[in-house]
Amino acid sequence: MSAVYALRHNVFVVEQGVPEEIEVDEDDMVATHLAAVSDGHVIGTLRILLHGRTAKIGRMAVSASSRTEGIGRELMESAATTASSRGAEEIILGAQLTAYGFYKRLGYMEEGAVFDDGGTPHVMMRKKLQL
Ligand SMILES: CC(C)(COP(=O)(O)OP(=O)(O)OC[C@H]1O[C@@H](n2cnc3c(N)ncnc32)[C@H](O)[C@@H]1OP(=O)(O)O)[C@@H](O)C(=O)NCCC(=O)NCCS
Repeated sequence: MSAVYALRHNVFVVEQGVPEEIEVDEDDMVATHLAAVSDGHVIGTLRILLHGRTAKIGRMAVSASSRTEGIGRELMESAATTASSRGAEEIILGAQLTAYGFYKRLGYMEEGAVFDDGGTPHVMMRKKLQL
């Protein structure tokens, strides 16, 4: 987990300027964390929070040097499989507008208005899981 938090810190706090004090929160204690590991290094991560039949994915991050190689897609597909095996029927997430196209390609649909989270514009997106 320390490597997961280090990657998140690099991506969200250092690269994107998200305030350090909100990057790790109490949801991390109960979330399921996925990590993509290459040569012993964590190069990607996300977390899953289960709320009844709805899973929420967050903190999706791939290290800058490993982007556009399919790591993010693989993590999202693993998250959907994990969520489904735990009874989830759908996934929701708050997408940064700069990552909107990434989630759209994976079948997520936007809903509602753009909102601010940590100083970055986001939009909610949702996808029904195949049961
Ligand atoms: C967004 C992010 C997770 C994508 O991870 P990645 O490993 O580079 O993505 P992949 O290589 O699996 O890309 C899958 C597809 O999405 C596309 N894609 C990747 N990032 C995209 C983006 N920001 N916008 C639009 N499309 C994108 C890829 O081109 C690829 O398309 P293809 O299927 O046609 O080949 C990564 O860029 C990242 O960590 N960014 C910084 C943190 C961040 O913004 N996280 C999201 C918070 S909501």
